[in-house]
Amino acid sequence: MRALSGDIEDIIRKRKSCRSYSDRKIGNDIMAEVITMLKDVESTATSAFQLKYSGGSGTGGKERVGTYGMISGASDYIAVIARREGNNPVEIGRLFETAVLHLADLGLDTCWLGGTFDRKGFEGRLDIGSSEYIPIVSPVGYGKERFSILDSSVRAMVGADTRKPWNELFFHESTLNPLEKEIAGDFRIPLEMVRLGPSASNKQPWRVITDSKGCHFFLSRDKGYGLRTYDLQLNDMGIAICHFELTAAQWGMTGSWENGPHPQAPAEWEYVRSYLI
Ligand SMILES: Cc1cc2nc3c(=O)[nH]c(=O)nc-3n(C[C@H](O)[C@H](O)[C@H](O)COP(=O)(O)O)c2cc1C
Repeated sequence: MRALSGDIEDIIRKRKSCRSYSDRKIGNDIMAEVITMLKDVESTATSAFQLKYSGGSGTGGKERVGTYGMISGASDYIAVIARREGNNPVEIGRLFETAVLHLADLGLDTCWLGGTFDRKGFEGRLDIGSSEYIPIVSPVGYGKERFSILDSSVRAMVGADTRKPWNELFFHESTLNPLEKEIAGDFRIPLEMVRLGPSASNKQPWRVITDSKGCHFFLSRDKGYGLRTYDLQLNDMGIAICHFELTAAQWGMTGSWENGPHPQAPAEWEYVRSYLI
């Protein structure tokens, strides 16, 4: 896959959900890069899903896509098409976010949509089979120069500009012992990039316990949230894993992801995966 041209930390810090798009079209060269990148990302998937581009009307007009008024001005979208059986929401999160960060690197804006879009409308438009569905889409394009009232009000509603502090998210050996940023060593920047990640309704359900072996990732669910059609919070865990691994790789870390022994965590947390050094 084409490497990111920018610094991963900058890309993660600059990415923000964009809900109002300008008229500026994506040029042919960039569009070709987008299509190739989606194919490259998709080819690394081990579970059953595809990443598809869904273009505008092709006549310069805006094709109306149902987002319940949540997105304005966009005519280009990317979508996840998942098999109903055998898709893995952690992997979908990890790879869709990989695509989102590559789009940001190409100067394009996006907004993860897992709830506020017309699923049936998209499914018809992309002509998918009955054994498949669309859990996630995102507009892709150039955002308006300033956030619109729409953007600002959604951002205020979900507190999109804030993130939980380190002592609520990251721990060392036990949850009795919050991890201090200053002593997190090599994990400091990868964990900070986890903290800055997007999550459904900005709920930030990721928790990490570090120990001498590495970083152990857990999900602290908001009970019942986002489970109606698709496990959005496992998706958020995939985003955290994506941010961690891309940042760790840029810093030359060569750990690996394993499912295995991990420190004890509160009973309500679900263990997801460990990055072992
Ligand atoms: C899995 C997932 C699903 C999301 N679904 C929606 C959605 O349906 N509608 C929406 O307006 N924003 C949605 N968002 C965007 C979040 O609200 C946003 O990422 C969060 O508020 C943080 O803001 P930021 O992305 O600008 O950092 C979703 C984000 C994620 C990660």
